[in-house]
Amino acid sequence: MATAFRSNPNKDVLRAGHDKAIIRQWFSRTGRPLEYLGLPGPDMLDIVEWQEFLGRFTAIERDENEQHLLFLRANVRDVEHRLYSLYGEFDEIIRTGRDKYNRAPRWPYDLVNLDYYGGLVYQTLSRPLALQKLIANQDEYRLSFLLIITQHLRDADLKGEKLSFFDELERRLLRDVGRKVTIADAMNAFKASATPDTARQVAYVNVLLRDFGEAAHFQVNCRPAVVYSGTGGARMLHFVTDLIHTDRAYRAVSEQSLIDVVNLGYRELQNGRFVDTTSVPKIQ
Ligand SMILES: C[S@@+](CC[C@H](N)C(=O)[O-])C[C@H]1O[C@@H](n2cnc3c(N)ncnc32)[C@H](O)[C@@H]1O
Repeated sequence: MATAFRSNPNKDVLRAGHDKAIIRQWFSRTGRPLEYLGLPGPDMLDIVEWQEFLGRFTAIERDENEQHLLFLRANVRDVEHRLYSLYGEFDEIIRTGRDKYNRAPRWPYDLVNLDYYGGLVYQTLSRPLALQKLIANQDEYRLSFLLIITQHLRDADLKGEKLSFFDELERRLLRDVGRKVTIADAMNAFKASATPDTARQVAYVNVLLRDFGEAAHFQVNCRPAVVYSGTGGARMLHFVTDLIHTDRAYRAVSEQSLIDVVNLGYRELQNGRFVDTTSVPKIQ
């Protein structure tokens, strides 16, 4: 059995402050309770905190004991009738469209909260590909949504994938924007070993979300990631992204430029307070 999730003060601040404010705006804009898909864990702390804005929730859980507890607690909290529970690994359920009991998610969703265990960029790239599929599924229903991702920063994350990403990003920016020297300087700074891996990971994930979103007809609004120490001191990265469906046949064009997205960087959350960081390379 996997270790059960325990919350921590930084996570509590994110859930009850940062994320909740954005979800409230989505609720006002949508004008109805939001349909939720996520990995709430047995305590369902996110669902409980955001309950006033939510309609029905689909909870994915891969640990049998945790899923059992989730049912029990949903019953105690009297939200069982709003809960639809899927059993299995999130990436697999998205990839195959079915959980271990052959049940399908109830697409589409307004709010997707992926509180992963582990990193994002593994050898098989199954996680990025699952995200791409999730976004494509939403596109089929032409529904805008808010995507929240929390992941561990892992040394095991694919270094080659991230370094080649900055080579490609450089080619892309030079092709579209020019400004050869400043772009090359910034990309070299991203690849330098003195630059924290967090900076690379944040640029990688935000650009990935933008690319997947635009290709599936969503205008994408990325935010600076929030980085914090999770339970047990693990370094956690938190992304909150708006995907606004454009209802067009051609690729969407976001308001943020690619340079804007790369320059977003991240903020550190320390003891419940946000601190700006200067260690992210910027394209001038
Ligand atoms: C971090 S906890 C959820 C915390 C909750 N969202 C909150 O705000 O406090 C993640 C839960 O999802 C499950 N989980 C993690 N990664 C998963 C995955 N890839 N597929 C399915 N379940 C997963 C874990 O067993 C755990 O119960």
